[in-house]
Amino acid sequence: MSQATLNLGMGGHQNAGNGETVWLTPPSLIRALGPFDLDPCFSPPRPWATAGEHYGPDVAGGLGGLHAEWFGLVWCNPPYDRHFGRWLERCADHGRALALVFARTETAEFHRTVWNRADALFFFEGRLTFHHPNGQKAAANGGAPSVLVAYGREAVQRIAAAGLRGRLIHLQRVAV
Ligand SMILES: C[S@@+](CC[C@H](N)C(=O)[O-])C[C@H]1O[C@@H](n2cnc3c(N)ncnc32)[C@H](O)[C@@H]1O
Repeated sequence: MSQATLNLGMGGHQNAGNGETVWLTPPSLIRALGPFDLDPCFSPPRPWATAGEHYGPDVAGGLGGLHAEWFGLVWCNPPYDRHFGRWLERCADHGRALALVFARTETAEFHRTVWNRADALFFFEGRLTFHHPNGQKAAANGGAPSVLVAYGREAVQRIAAAGLRGRLIHLQRVAV
């Protein structure tokens, strides 16, 4: 495979290999899991809605969706940068949220905000292909495995009912 072909993906870390942090959720996934009340990180122009209300970086006096008031069932596919843990922490604090991130399961941030706080995880069979901000589907898949992270019973139920191909893991904290 050529280097050019490799670079079509989103890169090997939480951020995109080309420096891009905006990768839109495949709309078929939103249709399967929704409807959602709020997407706290989706700035215009938006080729489609992911929730009843969206926040961009301009909300909360310019502090952005991370610092605005959240409500209802939240959909959160945060910017693909090193701050993803802050968004997951907010999802956990909110308690009613479904998040989509790369499955960097070994990292300290993943342990802090997912393994220690989430109610269930869904690992996809295969890799997702995301969309560009103009709605165009990317030429290659995301370049890393994605995982849905459920905070709260409703979010877990949405995954269970969605009919997605993959494996739902309930995080039961049972004493052994
Ligand atoms: C990975 S994209 C996901 C978009 C959308 N949530 C989705 O699921 O398709 C991240 C989005 O967060 C927006 N964003 C970046 N910083 C933000 C902030 N501080 N507050 C709100 N949105 C932000 C970006 O402009 C982009 O639209």
